[in-house]
Amino acid sequence: MEQDFWQARWRENRIGFHEDTPNTLLTRHFAKLGLHAGQSVFVPLCGKALDLDWLCAQGLRVSGIEFNQGAVEEVFDRQGLAPQVTREEGITRFHAGALTLFAGDFFALTSGHIGQVDVVYDRAALVAVKPEDRGAYAAHINRIAGPVQQFLVGFDYDQSLMQGPPFSVPGETVQALYQETHSITLVEERAADGRIGERCNALEQAWLLKPLA
Ligand SMILES: C[S@@+](CC[C@H](N)C(=O)[O-])C[C@H]1O[C@@H](n2cnc3c(N)ncnc32)[C@H](O)[C@@H]1O
Repeated sequence: MEQDFWQARWRENRIGFHEDTPNTLLTRHFAKLGLHAGQSVFVPLCGKALDLDWLCAQGLRVSGIEFNQGAVEEVFDRQGLAPQVTREEGITRFHAGALTLFAGDFFALTSGHIGQVDVVYDRAALVAVKPEDRGAYAAHINRIAGPVQQFLVGFDYDQSLMQGPPFSVPGETVQALYQETHSITLVEERAADGRIGERCNALEQAWLLKPLA
C-alpha cells in the first residue's frame, strides 16, 4: 500500500527528498506569485520541508498534509509551537498560529479541512505520486483548493534510468494535467542535486500555473 511504503521510508530515515534549506526555486521566484501577508498557501504532501517555515516567515497562512505524523510534529517543535490537536474524519489536525498541518491521506482531505486557499505550493509532491494516480491527484488539488495559482517544482529525467519515486514529470505531462484549468509557464530549470542528478542527469523544474479566467 502507498501509505505503508512512505511510512517505512520515514521509519528507516530514507528521506533523501528532505532539503536542509528552503528550496531556492521557491525563494527566488516566490515574488512572482504576487502574494501578500495574510493570504494562504496549501502545501500537499509536505513532509517536514523547511519551505513550510519559510512560507510562515513571509506572513502567510500555511496549511499542508502529510502521511507521517512524526514529520508534522517536528515542524511545530522546531518552530517552538504547541499545536492544538483534533481528529476530523480520519485525519489529525495540528494547528497553532498561522500553521495548520494535517496528518493523514491527501485523498481524504476536503475543502472543508483546508478552507480558503490562494496558492498551492507543490514541491516533490506530484512527482511522488504514482503515474497512474496523477490524474486523480491533479483533479483533487483543483477540487479542494479551487483552480488557484500553483508553484510546482518537479523533475524531468529519462524514466528508464531510475525507478521512481520521484517519478519524471516532463512538461507535456504538466500540460496534460493542468492545461484545462491553468496557463503554464516554466520559470526555471536547473541540474538536479543528489542521487537523481548524479544517476539520471535530471532537471529540476519550476512551473508557474495561473488559473484560466
Ligand atoms: C517526495 S516527499 C516530498 C516531501 C516535501 N514536499 C518536501 O519537499 O520535502 C513526498 C511526501 O509525501 C508523503 N505522501 C505521499 N503520498 C501521500 C498521501 N497520499 N497523503 C499524504 N502524504 C503523502 C510522503 O510521506 C512523503 O513525505
